[in-house]
Amino acid sequence: MKPFADQKVLVTGAGAGIGHGLCRKFAEAGAIVALNDVNPQLAADAARRLNDELEAERVYAYPFDVADVAALRAGVGDFAGRFGGLHVAVANAGITNYGDFLSYTPDDFDRLTAVNLKGSYFTAQAAAHAMIAGKGPGRIVLLSSVTGLQAHRNLSAYGITKAGIRMMAKTLALELGPHGITVNAVGAGATITERTLLDDPDYERNWNGVAPNRRTATVDDIAAAVLFLASPEARHVTGETLMVDGGWTIYSPLPANHPQVPLE
Ligand SMILES: NC(=O)c1ccc[n+]([C@@H]2O[C@H](COP(=O)([O-])OP(=O)(O)OC[C@H]3O[C@@H](n4cnc5c(N)ncnc54)[C@H](O)[C@@H]3O)[C@@H](O)[C@H]2O)c1
Repeated sequence: MKPFADQKVLVTGAGAGIGHGLCRKFAEAGAIVALNDVNPQLAADAARRLNDELEAERVYAYPFDVADVAALRAGVGDFAGRFGGLHVAVANAGITNYGDFLSYTPDDFDRLTAVNLKGSYFTAQAAAHAMIAGKGPGRIVLLSSVTGLQAHRNLSAYGITKAGIRMMAKTLALELGPHGITVNAVGAGATITERTLLDDPDYERNWNGVAPNRRTATVDDIAAAVLFLASPEARHVTGETLMVDGGWTIYSPLPANHPQVPLE
């Protein structure tokens, strides 16, 4: 018996990157998956590719912008109605836009918060309604980041959204606990994806040096944590953010010439 057999799973922002990898892992584990992306062609192609790989029809494209709450509610309602409920929702869709604080624009701020905060919040709300209608239990997993825990230059607005998501996991866990729904977040560290490789072709080599375990996360590393939090075994874990960063956020830099604590 596969661990997610017959479970209905929604993953947002899944045409590429971490979300796409999550859809693969959930579908391989037996789930029926709604693969959402704002780009309809990307969503359709990604779903088709996964079904081809699996030699089964398990992944269904759901194109909508998570910042468009009406479209989001319609998509979640359609999936749950068509396949008989919703068991897991991963609010993965998120955008990263860089910019120094002094010249950051209101338009960039509005779009960033609309996708990362409003999108995640109302994905969780729509999912919770479907889970409660199906008489639970349910699992909601949000995507936070190392940038939600520690400050990074040129990522002030992004960091605020990712810190907000850690608090979102706590506050929603409190309200949804009585319905048998857990809400947790994964705090992803630097992860090798199509996007990060596009930003920096040497991404892996450049990031391998900074975490105590001397490696850069793969999509599978993040997926392993998400699938655990989405599993029945994680029923007593809620409101938490699980950092998946090779230990990058456990330490603070020391001065180069510390007398007792030499740098490696
Ligand atoms: N990749 C990393 O290193 C990293 C690190 C920490 C946290 N994260 C977080 O993990 C999540 C996934 O990151 P990623 O790097 O895989 O993403 P990505 O930038 O590769 O985007 C994945 C998909 O999301 C889609 N998308 C963008 N806006 C959307 C919207 N409004 N509605 C629906 N879909 C939308 C894009 O079209 C894209 O196909 C994000 O929330 C991100 O903040 C990523």
